[in-house]
Formats: sequence, C-alpha cells, structure tokens
Amino acid sequence: MNKQFPIEKFRDLQTPFYYYDMEVLKRTLEDITNEANKYNYHIHYAVKANANPRMLSTISKAGLGADCVSGGEIQAALKAGFSAEKIVFAGVGKADWEINLGLDKNISCFNVESIPELEVINELAAAKGKTANVAIRINPEVDAHTHHHITTGTKEDKFGINIAQIDKVIDKIDALPSVKLTGIHFHIGSQITEMEPFAGLFVKAVELERYLSQRRIFLENINFGGGLGIDYKHPNSNPIPDFKAWFEVFHKYFPARPGQRVHFEPGRSVVGQCGSLISKVLYVKEGAFKRFVVLDAGFTDLIRPAFYDAYHKIENLSSDETQDIYDVVGPICESSDTFAKAVKINKAQRGDYIALRSAGAYGEIMAMQYNCRKLPKAYFSDII
Ligand code: LLP
Repeated sequence: MNKQFPIEKFRDLQTPFYYYDMEVLKRTLEDITNEANKYNYHIHYAVKANANPRMLSTISKAGLGADCVSGGEIQAALKAGFSAEKIVFAGVGKADWEINLGLDKNISCFNVESIPELEVINELAAAKGKTANVAIRINPEVDAHTHHHITTGTKEDKFGINIAQIDKVIDKIDALPSVKLTGIHFHIGSQITEMEPFAGLFVKAVELERYLSQRRIFLENINFGGGLGIDYKHPNSNPIPDFKAWFEVFHKYFPARPGQRVHFEPGRSVVGQCGSLISKVLYVKEGAFKRFVVLDAGFTDLIRPAFYDAYHKIENLSSDETQDIYDVVGPICESSDTFAKAVKINKAQRGDYIALRSAGAYGEIMAMQYNCRKLPKAYFSDII
C-alpha cells in the first residue's frame, strides 16, 4: 500500500480523478528554481503539459514564465498570474486572432517557424503600430532518441526553420519594419533521459551563434526548449528530475555571452511526477488465458499508453496482498484502451483504488469526452 495517498479521503470523490501531490510540485519548483538561478537561466513552464488553473497559479507564484502554443494557453497563463513579459508564444500554425492577442497583451516574444508566418506577424503588428519581438525557431536536426511521436528536431519534422534557410529568414526580418529579431529558439523533443542529445543541441547553437556573429547579429536570447525526461519507472524513489545535471551540461558547453539571456521551456519535468490518475476497479474478469482488471478510467482520462505506448506505473492503493499478473484495461469500446499488459500489481478486487502514476504531465490536459464520458476532475493534496 502506498501511504502517500490519503485513500480514506478519496471515499467521497467520484473516480476517476486526478490527484496532485502539492508537496512534490513545491519541491520540484524549488529545485528547478535553485538550479536555474545558479546560472541566471530563465525558465518558461510549457503550459501544454498541464494547464489546470491551480497548477498554473502555483507555478507562476514560484516565479517561472510561460511557454504557450495557442491563444487559449496565453489566456490561461495570464489568468493564472503569469506576467505578459514572461510569456513566449511558439507553434507552427498561429492563427491571426492568436497573434493579435499576443500583440495586444505585449507578450515577450513570438517564436516563428516560417517566412509566411513572419510576414503575417509583421502585417498585424504594423496595423497596431507595434513592433513584435521574434525569435527564429531553428530545426537543429538533432535526434532526441525518444518516441517518434514526440521528437521534434529532425529533418522529418514540421517544426522550425531549417538551418540552411537562416540567411533568407534574417534578410526577411531585416526587410520587415514591424518585427525585431531578439533571439533563437530550439526544441528537440520530449522525455529525453540522456544528456547526449542535448549536447548535440548546444554544438549546433554554438555553430549558429558563431555564424551569426559574422553577420554582426548578437542574439540577446537563446531558448533551448524543454524535453528533460522523468523517471516513469520509479516515481516514489525518484520524484524530482535531475535539473542540476541538465543545466550543468548547458553551462559547461554553452557559455552565455555578457548580456545574453538563456531560456528553457520544461513541461513534463515540472509537473509529471506530482500527478496521478486515481481510478477504481470495476471488475476483475477471467479471460481465456489471462486475467483483466477493468478500471473506471479509460484512455479518455489518460491517453498516453494508447497513443504513445507509454508506461505508467500502476499501484493498487487498497491492497497489501501478494502480487498477481493482470492486463489493466479501461471501459472504452476500443482494444487500445489498455493501460498495461501482464503487469504485476497487488491482488485486486472490485472497489480497490488504483493509481496510474507520473500522470501530471500530458494527462488531465489531454483528456477527452469520447463515449460521452465526463472529463476527470482534479483534487489537490493540500485542500482535499
Ligand atoms: N517547448 C516546445 C516548443 C515543445 O514543443 C514542447 C513539447 C515543450 C517545450 C515541452 O516539452 P517537455 O519539457 O514537456 O518535454 N504529449 C506528449 C508530449 C508532447 C510534447 C510536445 N512538445 C506526451 O504525452 O509525451
């Protein structure tokens, strides 16, 4: 039984729901802030990982900025207290209303991903008599060695501008009166658990910086994106990601120049480990040659296993009995609604509480209403 979970307090709550351990979030925020402050690094939390209002306001109070990828995220970030000058706006397909919102709110920077987008930002900024700060999102062509659905920095991907086009893009920015180049932006992928792909990234950044300085361009801002992975296998013994090692590697190989600001955009590593999806066992069902635990949570509540084959540790919070082997499945009418196959958990029976761990990032925010299901609610350890 995992004593971190107050299951006696769960009794009155409708499952499935998200449960956030605010102590873990607090410790994570303290750790990332302390480690980043050592080098004066600027952290923009990637709102896409979890935009629950209480999570956002906790993160903004810790002093982080926000990395947004839609107008909706900009609105959510502002509402939660992030200041506009700490908001950056990325994304390969920004709609006009979203660009206008960013301009009206005076966000700090648009990370641009194409020449046509630059032209539109210029036109919309000119119409408002403003100048938009832009950073060029570079596709660094670095393989992040992670799941192919969540790599973003290779030649195959739709993201960013190819390094070979950099001159063309800078000439374009020079020619457009209402956009101002303030930096470059990279992001190579997500759930990266080795430091080596990041090393490939700063090698590219150093090369690019050297090249741009020949064009007398000084990059005020360098944004290395997010991507630091979490330990999905051991959420109890390893709840805080290794921010120290992550920043150290950049500090060692990418010496920032005087006046240059280095930014990061972590999402998963900030909120991943503090969240669990709590569900109840509906039935234990004997199959032809295996046993199923049927939960009241399905992929509509946590899509990562079905979508990316992702592993989430499963714990039976109600039982201390010896382990048994089950396929843990949900109630949705699709066979991909399987959280894990042949997994060992403490012997289960109807009514047991089951936790799907490390679900704080890309869990609640990716929930949907397929099968006319209700969206899961969220509860917090400090006010439950
Ligand atoms: N910056 C940019 C430009 C991004 O595209 C992303 C994530 C991040 C920052 C934050 O990355 P993180 O630190 O969270 O790895 N739904 C998938 C993950 C998609 C990530 C998309 N981009 C999942 O559940 O694994």
